[in-house]
Amino acid sequence: MTVFDRFRDLVRGRIGIELPGQSRRSIESFVSSRCQARGYPSVEDYFLSLAAADPAEPELQELVGTVTNGKTSFFRHPRQLAALTDLVLTLVRRGRRELSIWCAACSTGEEAYSVAIELAMAGIESEVLGTDVSKAAIDVARRGEYGGWTLRGVSEQVRQRYFVGIGERDGRFLVAPQIQKRITFSLHNLIREAYPRPKGHLWDIVLCRNVFIYFSHETITSILDRLTDVLNPGGHLFVGGTESLHGVHPRFALVRLGDSFAYRLLEPGGQGTQSFFATPELRSPGAGSAGPPVAPRDALGQAAPEPPVTPGAQIRAALDAYERGDRPGAKALLQAHLERSSTDVAARVTMGNILLMERDLSGAEEQYSAALDVDPLSAEAHFFLGVLYRKARDDELAIDAFRRTLFLDSSFWVASFYLAGLYSKAGRWQKARQAYENTLRTLCGPVSSPLMQSFLHGMDDMARFRSDVRAACESNLVGFRVAPGR
Ligand SMILES: C[S@@+](CC[C@H](N)C(=O)[O-])C[C@H]1O[C@@H](n2cnc3c(N)ncnc32)[C@H](O)[C@@H]1O
Repeated sequence: MTVFDRFRDLVRGRIGIELPGQSRRSIESFVSSRCQARGYPSVEDYFLSLAAADPAEPELQELVGTVTNGKTSFFRHPRQLAALTDLVLTLVRRGRRELSIWCAACSTGEEAYSVAIELAMAGIESEVLGTDVSKAAIDVARRGEYGGWTLRGVSEQVRQRYFVGIGERDGRFLVAPQIQKRITFSLHNLIREAYPRPKGHLWDIVLCRNVFIYFSHETITSILDRLTDVLNPGGHLFVGGTESLHGVHPRFALVRLGDSFAYRLLEPGGQGTQSFFATPELRSPGAGSAGPPVAPRDALGQAAPEPPVTPGAQIRAALDAYERGDRPGAKALLQAHLERSSTDVAARVTMGNILLMERDLSGAEEQYSAALDVDPLSAEAHFFLGVLYRKARDDELAIDAFRRTLFLDSSFWVASFYLAGLYSKAGRWQKARQAYENTLRTLCGPVSSPLMQSFLHGMDDMARFRSDVRAACESNLVGFRVAPGR
């Protein structure tokens, strides 16, 4: 068995995530980087330690945070949230006093807070639980503190009513206490742990959005089996807009809710006709209905096979066009290539870089995230996301992205240098110092990646850039020695 196969098995066994074949190169370089960084005598020792690690153990948690794409946002899939609120209102009109909602795989909490805010706006009391396998994500969710970039989709009205500005930290907001008190967050692994229940009862609604795409058919079926034990018969499961579970489990039936869709849990052995929810406004999609959203992936959540890619030539041609000042031409070349080979990570990242240079931050983020869907272990995609968040002045997100880059590739000195600057800015002196020292330690290594070359393009004198970075690190470290309290 190759290193790649073993690592893939390990991640599948511990987290459920199916790592795509395209990540082979990143996996091999990641495993060797971690063995070196942690001083494991062999790859075997590294695998054994991860296989036996406690779920909260830092190395395993770093890995979880890196292989899982935690991309989320406030009020994501607004039509679905509106349908959820309507569903809840229907139940309240029918005399339900309390409702329970579980946001499984909620990442950094934006989804659970959005649900709670929607319900609060509709004047509905509810118990909301948010869970995720990533401790770093749950820590952020529990803090409930978000920066400007994360809040860009939140209307001014909602911001004023449900968020509190944090005076001393520019552009950062806390979710208001009246929303925080409605939600509990906890660490939970959907494939390895018993499923939570609301105060001894069953959930009315479960959201499990944008995570099935990373699981195999077998894993999805086992999750759905376990959900049947904790979801109220007649209760609803919401999945992501591009995920389809149609026909995957006999007890989950697709139903149309307003302008959106969900899956209703049928009574055991029943066809759901006696269901509490079988009403005209919550009807099953029948003949003539618009049908479920068209999923770009198949019903099992698997990406369709892509044709083999010949990277390099198209990227070079696009960069040449860009250098000649022909930006539209560069983008058109990459776009045409990506339409044929949507899993070419290098082309996606290059497209992201061009959009980033044009200050189209949302467009660039979309490209980097798509690259990470294909190869969650791409150090470069994490690095450029960090550059983007730094430009957007969301330093917390930038720090997280640079940390992930360095976890994947500890010799990525440009990431280490940027991280040092961000730690200094935040007054986290100890960490800043370590990051400057790391930069100096790794600075002599090559900037081998063609993507980095394109990013550093414009600094045509690489030796000069390196010597500037060295001088900046040395002078900052002298500063730390002169003022030891820092
Ligand atoms: C793309 S995010 C989706 C966040 C949110 N549900 C949304 O739709 O905006 C996927 C999340 O699934 C989580 N995840 C992956 N594997 C998991 C597992 N085995 N158990 C629980 N959560 C998992 C990841 O940590 C990540 O935060």
